[in-house]
Amino acid sequence: MSRTVDGEALLAAARAVRQHAHAPYSKFAVGAAVLDEQGRIHAGCNVETVAYPQGWCAEASAIAVMIADGGKRVLGVAVCAESHRPVPPCGGCRQKLLEFANDDCPIFIGDLQGVRVSHRLVDLMPFSFGPQYLAP
Ligand code: THU
Repeated sequence: MSRTVDGEALLAAARAVRQHAHAPYSKFAVGAAVLDEQGRIHAGCNVETVAYPQGWCAEASAIAVMIADGGKRVLGVAVCAESHRPVPPCGGCRQKLLEFANDDCPIFIGDLQGVRVSHRLVDLMPFSFGPQYLAP
């Protein structure tokens, strides 16, 4: 299932969808994109609500779009935001990503200019609780 992942292409999708972010409270727009096992890119943005805890992250949106489109596995991830330093996935999104991605899945983190850093999922989420613990 290994495939070379084009981080800039993934980030371009994240950057494009970021424009649709609904972030009137934080004013912090985020876009995310995931590459599935069929080579397709799925993108999503953060969505906030006035009941603040009921909003959700861009990564969660992108995963939901992938699942709705019939994708099964995440082979690469890009996150796009504008900040003074690269914006990594939050803890909850790391847990969501490891549901669908392998340890070596690349996470490309960038801004409007391009990819700034990349990390493997396992480095962002070491000693994690994954589906393997429920296996008989
Ligand atoms: N946010 C994301 O969408 N993804 C991240 O990786 C970090 C944070 C969103 C959640 C909230 O809408 C806003 O950024 C500020 O926290």
